[in-house]
Amino acid sequence: MKKIFGVIGDPIAHSMSPIMLNDSFQRYDIDAEYFAFHIKNEFLQDAVKGFKAINLAGFNVTVPHKTAIMPFLDEIDPLAQAIGAVNTVVNDEGRFIGYNTDGSGFLEGLKKEIPSFKNKNMLLIGAGGAARAIYFTMAHAGIQSIDIANRTLDKADYLVQNCPYPVNSTVLGIEDAEENLSKYDFIVQTTSIGMHPDVDRSPIRLDRLKKDAFVSDIIYTPLETKFLQQAKQNGAQTQNGVSMFVYQGALAFQKWTGILPDTEKMQSIVLKQLG
Ligand code: ATR
Repeated sequence: MKKIFGVIGDPIAHSMSPIMLNDSFQRYDIDAEYFAFHIKNEFLQDAVKGFKAINLAGFNVTVPHKTAIMPFLDEIDPLAQAIGAVNTVVNDEGRFIGYNTDGSGFLEGLKKEIPSFKNKNMLLIGAGGAARAIYFTMAHAGIQSIDIANRTLDKADYLVQNCPYPVNSTVLGIEDAEENLSKYDFIVQTTSIGMHPDVDRSPIRLDRLKKDAFVSDIIYTPLETKFLQQAKQNGAQTQNGVSMFVYQGALAFQKWTGILPDTEKMQSIVLKQLG
């Protein structure tokens, strides 16, 4: 029987996950189909019960349900529990198990470019949900240090204090980070600044970048944010948010099927969608 997968969110109409993952199901000859389900907050628990009833094979979870869904699942992976958000649910013989592949998606995308990342110093810009997933995953993976620069220092402090995995960290304001930028091998931008339609802003000045720094932005609309443009102008190697999006989907697919799909193909589908 055909297996059904999906993604839930609100809004969800513009999700690129169905086209990206249906292509992978076809490529590996798996009799399955992936749908976008528009689920409003008040129906979240009912939706999970319905998925149980029809034995949905697995699903992704996006904004605004990544945290709210957790009490409705049967088990949560420890890293997802620490992050406090689930983006992938696996149906394991009727039990729904929640994982987080956002942080690990970021990590896999990074590893493709920088295979030896552990002895590096990273600067994370922002302290919201996406920053939390990346910070905890990188700490879990054993990176040497992660400093956080954020407008609101308390939020960054809170994130550092709640991380269960040991890692050296300093919290700093944006101006301090600008002054000390040459300390960092990786800089990762996780705020919404620079996202379409607010495309003319960058959260930080990058004129003191270390030579050969690797600079990444998790935004993919636009493909090249003001922040990444500045990074390029200052000689950095750059990566946009397509990579994290593709890998979070690829890792979800792997959890469902045991197959790590061709991420180059997935990336070309996403780039085509983005025009
Ligand atoms: P997400 O879950 O997508 O990461 P979020 O939890 O709303 O989003 O986090 C947004 C991040 O962008 C935060 O780091 C936020 O900074 P504050 O902690 O100071 O709020 C940052 N951010 C958003 N808009 C900003 C702005 N106009 N100036 C500076 N930082 C901003």
